[in-house]
Amino acid sequence: MDNGCGKTIALANQKGGVGKTTTAVNMAAALASLGEKILVVDADPQGNASSGLGVSPPDKHLYHCIIGECAAGEAIVPVEEFETLWLLPTHIDLIGTEVELMHEREREGFLKKALAPVAADFDYIFIDCPPSLGLLTINALTAADSVIIPLQCEYFALEGLSQLVRTIRLVKNSYNPGLSIEGLLLTMYDRRNRLTYQVAREVKNHFKDTVYSTHIPRNVRLSESPSHGKPITLYDPSSSGAVSYMNLGREFLKRQKKRRKKP
Ligand SMILES: Nc1ncnc2c1ncn2[C@@H]1O[C@H](COP(=O)(O)OP(=O)(O)OP(=O)(O)O)[C@@H](O)[C@H]1O
Ligand SMILES: [Mg+2]
Repeated sequence: MDNGCGKTIALANQKGGVGKTTTAVNMAAALASLGEKILVVDADPQGNASSGLGVSPPDKHLYHCIIGECAAGEAIVPVEEFETLWLLPTHIDLIGTEVELMHEREREGFLKKALAPVAADFDYIFIDCPPSLGLLTINALTAADSVIIPLQCEYFALEGLSQLVRTIRLVKNSYNPGLSIEGLLLTMYDRRNRLTYQVAREVKNHFKDTVYSTHIPRNVRLSESPSHGKPITLYDPSSSGAVSYMNLGREFLKRQKKRRKKP
């Protein structure tokens, strides 16, 4: 394959159900449909990104790559109906790594090591993290160049955010000096709800331009598409969810271009 920049981005928030997987799958699909070469790494043993992209539990998966039983290149599969989208699928066995790696030296670096040989085959790699700040998320943050934090626009959205930011800082200081926050993404946005508006305002006051100006609305088509094993851009391209994720893809690429221009 051609050489890509292999920029690796973790989708992280220890809060469950905030849109990490929905964003990993649909942002990846949006960018692939814009011609970027994309790899989704499913680092959550729940396997929602794998099933959401229509891949059933495979023979070779991320667990084997992490424990060194197979190379990432052997486990990566193409995503159907896309020319430039691939998946490194997961399996419930991945849950074992949290315990198995506990006593290993440099246990935070296993995912980074597994992805290193394939990184340059892709323009962007998205790692879908589990809802915890355990060893899998620490591995994702160590392997990543940056983090996207999806935030659900609801009352407890900001709860735990400072802990996540502290963890990102800790990984940056201890293992991965180049790590940065790529962006905060407001998900399940409901324009008619005052609380959504208040949460959005508070997040923007605090994180300023880091917050994407694209918001992802609450859209029932987005919640239906995983059960069909398809990203929203294929399942219902005219839905508000699909339009928003396409807009997010464009905003993301615009930011990358701007950053590359900076000296
Ligand atoms: N914008 C949206 N509109 C409607 N439903 C959504 C939206 N985003 C996500 N959902 C639904 O909300 C649920 C949680 O989303 P998702 O699985 O992406 O969150 P998550 O952060 O990955 O969860 P977990 O922490 O369990 O991994 C899913 O059922 C998903 O289909
Ligand atoms: Mg998830």
